[in-house]
Amino acid sequence: MNSVTPTAENASTVPALQTINLGKKFKEFQALHPLDLTIAAGEMVVLQGHNGSGKTTLLNCISYLIPPSSGEVKVAGFDMRQEELQARKQLVFVPDVPRFFLELTAWEHLRFIAAANESLEGFEQRAEKLLRDFNLWHVRDHFPHRFSRGMRLKLGLLLGLIRPSSVLLLDEPTSALDQEGTQLLTEELQRRKSEGSAILLSSHDATLADRLADRKIVLSEGRVGSIPVANRRR
Ligand SMILES: Nc1ncnc2c1ncn2[C@@H]1O[C@H](COP(=O)(O)OP(=O)(O)O)[C@@H](O)[C@H]1O
Ligand SMILES: [Mg+2]
Repeated sequence: MNSVTPTAENASTVPALQTINLGKKFKEFQALHPLDLTIAAGEMVVLQGHNGSGKTTLLNCISYLIPPSSGEVKVAGFDMRQEELQARKQLVFVPDVPRFFLELTAWEHLRFIAAANESLEGFEQRAEKLLRDFNLWHVRDHFPHRFSRGMRLKLGLLLGLIRPSSVLLLDEPTSALDQEGTQLLTEELQRRKSEGSAILLSSHDATLADRLADRKIVLSEGRVGSIPVANRRR
């Protein structure tokens, strides 16, 4: 069984995120072998693994962006299939390729997401700080489809950070960030974690994983594997 269990001290509380037997087949190809994964509130887990090892597939299945072939997902105890509305209120997913509305500017996207999540209190200050921190303030009134890839990825990230959540899923969030952006994201994630957010992020950045992760999960051909000896850092 593909299984990753929590530490004993967290085992008694309702997990922030739980997958049970979660698997994905594309036709005959098993991209993700059935996986049991439990993440506690305030825990940060970094997903590692080579290209094609199943990281995006796992995150897509947890968020039901693609339907899993087997298993279930619970967010703060709510079943993603049966209680989708309650589960989604708690869940933020920042995909590696964000999508935007053609008719909304960057600022309007942030306001829209904040409004949709009943999070307009202090919106202007929070939006300004995020946009300035991530160096998008000067393009706040521009359309994201005119942005560079890196700017689009940053805006996708901010759409996840402008609203509350108890579980944050991020697919390679640092792939388009410069050093300063990575540092800012690290601080923001640490703050969220200290406030009780559970975070699952995929990253190829070993330094980031070492700094942030309470646990690392290495995927290999859709299964939880171990870190190859050559890549082991300690
Ligand atoms: N829509 C799809 N149809 C068929 N195969 C897919 C699809 N999406 C991903 N795969 C395959 O699943 C495997 C895992 O891909 P992915 O989850 O994107 O890996 P990673 O994010 O770790 O790089 C790869 O072999 C990939 O080709
Ligand atoms: Mg991927």
